[in-house]
Amino acid sequence: MSKKNTIVIAGGGSTYTPGIISALLNHSERFPMDEIRLYDIDEKRNDDMKLIIDLLLKEKGFVDIPLLATKDPEEAFTGVDFVFSQIRVGGLEMREKDEKIPLKYGLVGQETCGLGGFAYGLRSIKGLLEVVGHVQEYAPEAWILNYTNPETLISEAVRRVYPDIHMINVCDMTISIEETIAENFGYDRKNWIPTYYGLNHYGWYTEIYDKSLKRDVMPEIIEKLQEKEMGVADFNEGDESWAQTYKMMSTMVNYFPDNLPNNYLEYYWFPDMVLEKTDKNYTRANQVMEGREANTRRMAERIRNGETEGVLNFNFGEHGNYIVDIATSLLNDEHRRFMIITPNNGAIPNVRPDAVVEVPAYIGATGVEPVSLKPINDFHRGMMEAQVAAEKLLVDAYFEQSYQKALQAFTLNQTVPSARVAKQVLDEMIVANKEYWPELN
Ligand code: NAD
Ligand code: G6P
Ligand code: MN
Repeated sequence: MSKKNTIVIAGGGSTYTPGIISALLNHSERFPMDEIRLYDIDEKRNDDMKLIIDLLLKEKGFVDIPLLATKDPEEAFTGVDFVFSQIRVGGLEMREKDEKIPLKYGLVGQETCGLGGFAYGLRSIKGLLEVVGHVQEYAPEAWILNYTNPETLISEAVRRVYPDIHMINVCDMTISIEETIAENFGYDRKNWIPTYYGLNHYGWYTEIYDKSLKRDVMPEIIEKLQEKEMGVADFNEGDESWAQTYKMMSTMVNYFPDNLPNNYLEYYWFPDMVLEKTDKNYTRANQVMEGREANTRRMAERIRNGETEGVLNFNFGEHGNYIVDIATSLLNDEHRRFMIITPNNGAIPNVRPDAVVEVPAYIGATGVEPVSLKPINDFHRGMMEAQVAAEKLLVDAYFEQSYQKALQAFTLNQTVPSARVAKQVLDEMIVANKEYWPELN
């Protein structure tokens, strides 16, 4: 094995940091590390995470890997080989507003979908461009593996500024859907070659080829789903919100049985049903604050008080493994296949080439090689083109500081029934995001 790698986690204080570090340590043969750095603008969160990662390194027998937590970009990024990016600009407090403001106007209130996702997008673009700027300055050769949401908007915006950026955008949703289906219906997803297309959190499977069964298992999975609702996989155990989401997949395939949809399409196809089961005063952000977030703070506090035994307690799922598998495929030129968020450039032949899409791609030493797909049907294409245009308008609004473009984007968003409502939400979002958004004129 050649040289070891220095990695930095941008958004080091994120509740997802232990999952990524743990996956990296589990793959230390294929991905050797000589230093881990945590970069975060919030010193307290970063220090909390340093305590947790320190203990994780000890428990896994990697005490020799130096660990640094810093808010100084020069110290964080100089000489790094890989950047794992997972910042949340405005934190969960702003996520709560993204969810609750649209709900006040009768619209879906969601982290990455609908107008909440657009509001998050305008905050996130700014924060991520800063991170990418630091990488350009201090480690221009480094690869950025990005989980920061909303992924399509981030990818679009960063590529407008840095067209040749060494960045791979990924989402853990497809792997989580696959794992959940496999656990529910008794498959081994390691045998699967899935074909999927769409935008991030907005797409469809067209085939799930099973190498050991030597057939496409998607049609039989859809039949099973039509008859029986899925439960959550082990990693979502006890999470009522994810349980509801996976149940909705049965409704979706009963309406549209030709493809297996991404669960996030519930917000676009069935906003009325989603609203019926949403508590406007207690949304997903509140659940996460009281769950994953509080759990992380508690762990750090216990370690700070000198406890070590039985403190670490996580439920990782596939999130960390997925991005680390991508990193190892890149590092070792393994050419393994993943779902990647990338400029279309003909991968979906009848969708505009400059759309940022999510498609299967092989990852090797030179980066992302998307798979060339067949033309897609008008139902999916129409939905995608409208949403792509809305997202492009939003990114235009960011760079041009254009209120008019933002209003057009909000109006065209596929969860919005009226320009009047779009304007009401936009105007309230502008006030709520004063600290974070560019000024719109
Ligand atoms: P979190 O709030 O717990 O952690 C994010 C951290 O980023 C915080 O510690 C915060 O201080 C820090 N931060 C905010 N702005 C920053 C900046 N400009 N520079 C450096 N650090 C900054 O959030 P979380 O729930 O752990 O999620 C982290 C991110 O990962 C979010 O963007 C979330 O949407 C995303 N996510 C994506 C996927 C995916 O499939 N793509 C999956 C899970 C989470
Ligand atoms: C999935 C999606 C992510 C999203 C997350 C929200 O993992 O792929 O993009 O951020 O769900 O999960 P949460 O538990 O924070 O609601
Ligand atoms: Mn995602």
